[in-house]
Amino acid sequence: MTIKKAIFPVGGLGTRFLPATKAMPKEMLPVVDKPLIQYAVEEAAAAGIEQFIFVTGRNKTAIEDHFDHSTELEAVLIEKDKADALEVVRRMLREPGSVSYVRQQEPAGLGHAVWCARHLIGTEPVAVLLADDLILGAPAMAEMTAAYTGGNMVALMDVPASDTGAYGIITPGSKQGNLTEIIGIVEKPAPDKAPSDKAVVGRYILEPKIFEELGKGRRGAGGEIQLTDALAARIGHTPFHGLNFSGERFDCGSKIGFLKANIAFGLAHDELQGELSQWLPTRL
Ligand code: UTP
Repeated sequence: MTIKKAIFPVGGLGTRFLPATKAMPKEMLPVVDKPLIQYAVEEAAAAGIEQFIFVTGRNKTAIEDHFDHSTELEAVLIEKDKADALEVVRRMLREPGSVSYVRQQEPAGLGHAVWCARHLIGTEPVAVLLADDLILGAPAMAEMTAAYTGGNMVALMDVPASDTGAYGIITPGSKQGNLTEIIGIVEKPAPDKAPSDKAVVGRYILEPKIFEELGKGRRGAGGEIQLTDALAARIGHTPFHGLNFSGERFDCGSKIGFLKANIAFGLAHDELQGELSQWLPTRL
């Protein structure tokens, strides 16, 4: 099914990356040469998304500037005859009018961030992408939109049993190919309480009814309004599926995941892979 709109929640505090995130959102941290948010926008565009909605918090200007013309920079690049660099900064711009910004006035949780975009969403399902979940390989959102037939959908991956407390964890129902029916979901369960080792990764397709649920403002794990809880409340009313995507996910919200992503994307980068793969073993 074609999904035309995507929400990018970028209103988190990014405390795990302080001081880097003191004056800029963590979604502007670069992996090799691109900020995390640009990877997410490109993944959405590859899935056919046409409208890009950013839910921002403090320090939003870096993201707005990133997705806008930089007249001064472009003028200098033209003057210096740097055609390749000019192409890089121009090619990434989206169609005029296709990018909107909504402010999340307080970081009250991912569910709250998504709810803040409600007035920009009509009656069609919407994609949600968390830029700090970076995926190498096949774009996960395109796999999801291809498999989507209605209801709610999340991306799934298996995690070590000891890590369930960092994720939304599902209770799986029947399985068909890479799609799993979801019959229960809980946010950040302790390993001895987790219903499975199948965790939600930051890619969602949501039916608009979810906004009514989020609007109830119920606080969940960590005192935050959790998207997981709203998804749980819709079980039984609407289809709910998880998709095992084929790419490799990096948790760029954590320092170690971010470092691993830089190495993996560096090793997959034409200009860097030779020198990086020679140098890496010398550090071990
Ligand atoms: P995290 O749980 O990683 O929180 O958010 P955080 O504040 O960004 O980072 P730390 O834990 O303090 O280091 C998961 C995703 O939800 C978004 C974040 O931007 C991130 O993409 N988010 C979270 C919001 O947009 N608003 C919120 O209130 C909370």
